[in-house]
Amino acid sequence: MENLEQLRTQIDSIDREMAELFRRRMAVVARINAYKAAHGLPIADPAREAAMLTQAYDASDGVLNSLYGAFHRSVVEISKQYQARLRSPENVIRLDGRDGNCEIIIEHGCLHRAGELADLNRRVLIVTDDGVPAQYAQTVASQCRMPCIITVPQGEASKSFSLLQTVLERMAAHEMTRQDCVVAVGGGAVCDLAGFAASIYERGVEHYNIPTTLLAQVDASVGGKTGVNLGGVKNAVGTFSQPRKVLIDPQVLETLPERQMASGLAEALKIGVTLDPELFDIFERKDPLPHLDEIIRRAVVQKAQIVSADERERGVRRVLNFGHTVGHALEADHPELLHGECVALGMLAMSSEPVVQRLLPIYEKLRLPTRCSVNGEPVAERILHDKKRVGSEILAVEASQIGQFVIRPMTMDELLRRLSRIAEGGMTP
Ligand SMILES: NC(=O)c1ccc[n+]([C@@H]2O[C@H](COP(=O)([O-])OP(=O)(O)OC[C@H]3O[C@@H](n4cnc5c(N)ncnc54)[C@H](O)[C@@H]3O)[C@@H](O)[C@H]2O)c1
Ligand SMILES: [Zn+2]
Repeated sequence: MENLEQLRTQIDSIDREMAELFRRRMAVVARINAYKAAHGLPIADPAREAAMLTQAYDASDGVLNSLYGAFHRSVVEISKQYQARLRSPENVIRLDGRDGNCEIIIEHGCLHRAGELADLNRRVLIVTDDGVPAQYAQTVASQCRMPCIITVPQGEASKSFSLLQTVLERMAAHEMTRQDCVVAVGGGAVCDLAGFAASIYERGVEHYNIPTTLLAQVDASVGGKTGVNLGGVKNAVGTFSQPRKVLIDPQVLETLPERQMASGLAEALKIGVTLDPELFDIFERKDPLPHLDEIIRRAVVQKAQIVSADERERGVRRVLNFGHTVGHALEADHPELLHGECVALGMLAMSSEPVVQRLLPIYEKLRLPTRCSVNGEPVAERILHDKKRVGSEILAVEASQIGQFVIRPMTMDELLRRLSRIAEGGMTP
């Protein structure tokens, strides 16, 4: 007679063997995943999955045969989830928006996987500018079913109503409907313009950002703010509209001029100063360029968290304006300076003395400006027109220590005093 206890011991032992087999199977899955990532191959392989699911299990017992099918299907399904999780913690960052979520994928070479990562099997308007190497937009177009590329002139001037209209007209000429989508391939200017056009065309179509400047990768492409300028006021008109996905391919930065890189690093440094001391540490103690992947990832993680908590900028998202109130006001007078350079100047004005002392050597390393000419009155005028005004005071962000910030109303006098710190040769009235 068989003993029930012995039989149960056998089952337990087989279960342990199965668990060990499962562990070994998943180790192979991880190796496949790593191989595919290293060779730029797609992770999902629907044809192979389908073939695996129809593999017959050769048992004489018909019931077992059909149940094994179900068991095998779940193993294949679990494998897929495991592969997705293997990729997700590092490379895929989620942002929860009010009207939908956004997935930010950071991956070398993902420009070439746009067709797989985004739904481009429809009419697609690709917006780029004439300073972005044309092959980036063409690479995306080659992965779309019905692409149309519009190339606007490079520079801030393209964030205008007239270019917005041109983009919208091109969408109409391409016979786009609400089921179609827009893809921005460019820096922050292109992302802002394309996102705005997408968010209002037929009351909104989906859009994707493929940022090609460092500044757009660490900041402008993430967070769902879109817009154009109006009468010299930056981003005076726009929407909150989350892109479906943001595809960040650090490889496209190979063609980006050094000064543009520094401008982007300034925007990442902004996140380090206010929110992430470990990110600041990279800037302070290392050469940032070899750590670019880490810098992009840390900046995006922080921005996605802040935006998920306060998408419409009613509270904590204001921290991302650190350096911007002053920076924007300077930008109008200094067309020769890049956005990130103006933000860098703004950060100096808005930091406590100990923070300034730690920033200066970093600016020297990155060749960021520490001074510029400041015309007091026009700058004050522009600050007053900034969106962050409360009564006669301006809601501004101050970095008190690294990783800490205060958001508080400041009088115009205080802002002007702070501006004088960066004014070359003193402030002109
Ligand atoms: N929406 C937001 O949350 C947000 C945040 C920060 C900044 N912004 C906006 O972003 C804009 C600044 O963005 P930016 O610094 O990317 O400027 P940009 O878009 O003007 O690009 C800078 C220059 O780099 C060129 N370029 C782009 N990619 C290139 C590449 N891979 N190789 C060579 N050249 C390339 C462009 O043609 C352009 O001449 C501003 O308008 C700012 O207001 C928006
Ligand atoms: Zn900025």
